[in-house]
Amino acid sequence: MILESCVFGKISMKNRIIRSATWEGMCDRNGKPTEKLIKLYEELAENNVGLIITGYSYVSKDGIQLPGMLGVDDDENIDDLKNMVERVHNKGGKIVVQIVHAGGQANRKSSGCQPIAPSAVEFPTFSEIPKEMTKDVIKRVVEAFGDAAKRVKLAGFDGVQLHGAHGYLINQFLSPVTNRRTDEYGGSLENRVRFLKEVLENVRSKVGNDYPVWIKLNCDDFIDGGFSIEEAVIVAKWLEEWGIDAIEVSGGSPASKDKSPARTKIDDVAKEAYHKELAKKIKDFVNVPVAVVGGIRSFEIANKLIEENISDAISLSRPLIREINLIKRWESGDTSRSKCISCNGCFMPGIKEDGIYCVVEKRLAEKEK
Ligand SMILES: Cc1cc2nc3c(=O)[nH]c(=O)nc-3n(C[C@H](O)[C@H](O)[C@H](O)COP(=O)(O)O)c2cc1C
Repeated sequence: MILESCVFGKISMKNRIIRSATWEGMCDRNGKPTEKLIKLYEELAENNVGLIITGYSYVSKDGIQLPGMLGVDDDENIDDLKNMVERVHNKGGKIVVQIVHAGGQANRKSSGCQPIAPSAVEFPTFSEIPKEMTKDVIKRVVEAFGDAAKRVKLAGFDGVQLHGAHGYLINQFLSPVTNRRTDEYGGSLENRVRFLKEVLENVRSKVGNDYPVWIKLNCDDFIDGGFSIEEAVIVAKWLEEWGIDAIEVSGGSPASKDKSPARTKIDDVAKEAYHKELAKKIKDFVNVPVAVVGGIRSFEIANKLIEENISDAISLSRPLIREINLIKRWESGDTSRSKCISCNGCFMPGIKEDGIYCVVEKRLAEKEK
C-alpha cells in the first residue's frame, strides 16, 4: 500500500511516503542551499522518497531559529532555489518547501533581534520574553508568508507547506497558553485562528488556487491549557473550507517533554505512530488527504495506517537520517524495521558542525574501519 503511487494534496507521488520537514543546518549565512544540501535531496530522490519536504525555511529574518536554515525571504535566493529544484526533479524527485516564522521560538543568536510573538509571555521554549506583535507587524508577517510562497512557486517547487506545528508562530497564535491577546487575534478559537486564516489567504492570493498548499498542524500541544484535538478538528475543517490541500498531523513542542514532536525510545511497535489517534480524528472530520508523522518505524505499521484509513500517506524524518535507502530496502523485499533508535543524536551535529547526520551510524562506520 505505502509503496503504491498516489495523488496526495494535488501532487502525484511514486509512493505514499513523505520525508517530513527536517532541518538539516546545511544552508549558508544568507539562507542559500549548499552543495551538501542539494546532494542530500538528490540522494533522497534517487532512493525513491515519494516526496521531500525541505527543512523549515524562514519567511523573514526575525523568524530564524537555528543556524543553517533555508531562506525564502529574499528574491536573491530564487536562482539558487531554482537550481536545487531542477536537480531534484532530474533525479525523479518531488519537493515541497516548509515555510515558517519561529515567533517566540526564534533565537537572537541567529536572527539578530528580539523574538516577536502573539503575546509577551514567558514560555519554556522561548529563549527570552518576546515582543508582542502589533497589528502592523502581524500584517507584515502575513505578507512575508505570502511572498515566501510566491518565491517557492517561482523557483519551481511542487508545493508549499505552512508550518503550523511544534510551537512556532502559527501554533503560538492557536494556543491559548502563548496567545493571551484581547484583540481580534486572541480569545475565542475564531480569533486565535485568524492569523493562520490570513496567512493562508495571503498565500493563496499569491500562488493561485491550483498550486498545492499544505499544512503541518499541531493537533494537540500536549501541555495544560494548550491547543487540543477538540479544537484541531474544527480548525482542520475550516482549513479545508479555506482551500488547504493536505494536512500532515503532528503534535507537541519541546515544552511537551516526553510528548515532544520527535519522541525518543521508539523501541517497540506499540510505541510507533504515536500521533495515529490524532490523525484518525482529523481524517474522520475532513475530506482533504491526511498524512501522519511521528515514530513510524515498521513497514507493517505504515501499511496499516493506510489500510485502516487513519491516513493517506505516512511521513518519516529520523528513519531517513539513519537509512537514506530505507524505502529502496523495503521495495527490494527486506521489510524489516527501520534501524533508527530514536535517540535524537542527529540534532547536535546540525548545531555544532555543518549539518545533521546519524551519530549512531557514524559510530558504527568508525568501528568497522
Ligand atoms: C533533526 C531534526 C530536524 C527537524 N526539523 C523539522 C523541521 O524543520 N520542521 C518540522 O516540521 N519538523 C521537524 N522535525 C520533526 C520531524 O519532522 C518529525 O515530525 C519528528 O521527528 C517525528 O517523526 P520521526 O519519528 O519520523 O522522526 C525535525 C526532526 C529532527 C530529528
